[in-house]
Parts: sequence; structure tokens; C-alpha cells
Amino acid sequence: MCIQESCGKMFPVIKCKAAVAWERGKPLCIEDVDVAPPKVHEVRIKIIATGVCHTDWEYLYETEKGMKFRPFPLVLGHEAAGVVESVGPEVTKFSPGDKVIPLFLPQCGECKRCQCPKTNHCRKNWENTQMGVLADGTSRISCKRQQVFQFLGVSSFSEYTVVPDTSLAKIRSDAPLDKVCLLGCGVSTGYGAAVNTAKVEKDSLCAVFGLGAVGLAAVMGCQVAGAKRIIGVDINPDKFEKAKAFGATECVNPRDHSKSIQEVLVAMTDGGVDYALECVGSPDVMSAALESTADAWGTCVIAGHLRQLYGYYKVTRKLPFSVWVMRLKLDEFVSYSLPLDQINVAFGLLKSGKSIRTVINL
Ligand code: APR
Ligand code: ZN
Ligand code: ZN
Repeated sequence: MCIQESCGKMFPVIKCKAAVAWERGKPLCIEDVDVAPPKVHEVRIKIIATGVCHTDWEYLYETEKGMKFRPFPLVLGHEAAGVVESVGPEVTKFSPGDKVIPLFLPQCGECKRCQCPKTNHCRKNWENTQMGVLADGTSRISCKRQQVFQFLGVSSFSEYTVVPDTSLAKIRSDAPLDKVCLLGCGVSTGYGAAVNTAKVEKDSLCAVFGLGAVGLAAVMGCQVAGAKRIIGVDINPDKFEKAKAFGATECVNPRDHSKSIQEVLVAMTDGGVDYALECVGSPDVMSAALESTADAWGTCVIAGHLRQLYGYYKVTRKLPFSVWVMRLKLDEFVSYSLPLDQINVAFGLLKSGKSIRTVINL
């Protein structure tokens, strides 16, 4: 057994299960992996639940969609919640037993970007985490004596993982981890796009394009902000019922109209919406969203793109708060709950459009 001595404490390597992506385009394999102890400024966490997000799927199966090269084998997963198991040297903000949400976006609190109220794009250890390793250039996960890379510095498709202490938000001890895991990516992105980026105002007219997890969270954000009309737009009418439960006042299927969706929306709103939120990630929908806004003052926010990270939340400060605000509605995002060995089934559900989110319980 490999032992690391840190702060006078001894932490063993943990042997556990993880879903390993051995190569691009192939299903994940459940393997026994070794998770090394946390090094300086690192925290080892037991993952309790993880959502399965498009970005995981895209990285595995879609080589063309702008994801930079990252090495294989790796453990995917980045939308999770768990409990701190042990902390490395110089970690002051976390203790074993803390409930936490790991973050694919750090917040060091010290750099120029962290000091700027307009962004949350901290770049602490960025190059390393994008290349699948932590600050010292290595991963903490290995399998069959081979290094297994970490996805976005997280890797939540594993029973245990190690993350930097700047990429972790501590949450309330009574938070339901199998729900709040969704705040680790999609829900925060959509909700934050409405309330932080667009800054939707009371009595405004809003249109939300795409009614998946990101879009439904955007609808929720518009409702909380007091919007008067929230028009949900999706090519899959099965999404409309749920969107209305989240606060959409009406829903439109572009395929039901001979005119373009932007023309339909401009006509419906006598000149265009105040806020259009694009939650699909398609260039065509992005331009339709822009053209559906009122030309004099409309705002269009692109949430379906990687730049809209966490809806501009200053994550370590704001996530603990949103855990409390959103806990009641999060149930509605969970279509299926599955064990880790069903992870490939979860990918299938994601692509079929039948699930908003599948949560994997570890
Ligand atoms: N017009 C309107 N809606 C569309 C269109 C279109 N042309 N094309 C697809 N949609 C709808 C789908 O039917 C689906 O309901 O957009 C929705 C997208 O939802 P999900 O696939 O569940 O995706 P989600 O998890 O919400 O993420 C949305 O944000 O972070 C990014 O990579 C993510 O690009 C993705 C986007
Ligand atoms: Zn994600
Ligand atoms: Zn920073």
C-alpha cells in the first residue's frame, strides 16, 4: 500500500470503482481504480451522486465539437456532489465530512479575473486541468498501474476523486446530494444566464430556446426574476409540459410554423422579446435568438456555449446559496436515477431526448 505523509496524518490509497474511458468513441468500462491521497492544496472526496452532462458525452463521442484534445484513458464526469474524505497539506477551508460540490471552474479568489465582478473565468491551474492533470502535472487516479487522466480536474464517474481546494464549494450539511449535484453544471448555467448575465427584469418578455436542463433552469431564473411572459421554444413538443411547470407562460415549436421562429416571436410580442436565452448550443438557434429580441433594447444571452460557464456565478460564494434557493425544484430535473454500472445507459437516455438529467448514485 502506498502511503503519503501530510500534516503528520497518513492517508492510504483508496481502491474503488470508476467508469474509465479507455479510448475515444468506445463505451465506458467499470474498473477497479486506485485513488491516491490528496497532495498540497488538494481534497479527496467521496462522490455520492453525479449528473451525466452533454459535455461528458461530447468529449467521448463527438470529436469535432470544439473540445480541445485531452488524453485518454480518463474518468469523465463533472456535475457532482460528495463528502470530503481527507484533505492534503495547507487546506484550510475544508474538513473531512463536509458536503461539497466539485467545480470544473476554479475560484482562487486572488487573480484579476476573480477580483472582476463581471466574470467567473478564473484560470488557476487551467492548462493542467484542461490536460487532465492536477497542479503538479499528474492525476490522482490510476488503473492497472497506468495513470488515468481527470476530466476538467474533477472526474466524478468514480467513487472517489481528488480536486484542488480552489475548485470546490462547501454546501449546507442538510443538502440532498442526489439533487444538488445538478448545480455542478447545467442548472447553474441556465439559471445564472437568466439572473446574472441577462439580468432579466420584472415584467419583462423572455424567450428561452431549448428546453433541456439548461433551458428549464433558464425558465426558472426568468420566473424568479419576475418576467411577465416566458416563451419556451423547442422542436420537441414533449418538453412543453415540464417547461410550463417551471414557469413558461407559453411554448412554441418552430416546426409548427412556415415563418422563421424569430418572425413568429417578433409577431407574438409586438416587436421582439426583451431577453432571449439560447440554451441549445447551435449557431442557427443563436442567430434566431438574437433576431427575436426587440431591436432597440433586446438582450440575447448564449447559454448553450462553453463560455457561459456556471452562468457567471462566482461559484464558491454563490453555489452554497443557490443550493438553498433551488432545492425544492431540483427534483423536477431528475428523470432517472441509476447506479454507476449503468453509465452507458445514462448516455443513451441523454441522447434520446427522453431524459432531462440522469443522476448516477455511487
Ligand atoms: N430549436 C429549438 N430547440 C432545439 C433545437 C432547435 N433548433 N435543437 C434542439 N433543440 C432542443 C432539444 O429538443 C432539447 O430539448 O434543445 C434542447 C437541448 O436540451 P438538452 O439536449 O437536454 O441539453 P442541455 O443539457 O439543456 O444543454 C444545452 O448547453 O451546455 C450546453 O453542451 C450543452 O449545448 C448544450 C446546451
Ligand atoms: Zn456539464
Ligand atoms: Zn482566480
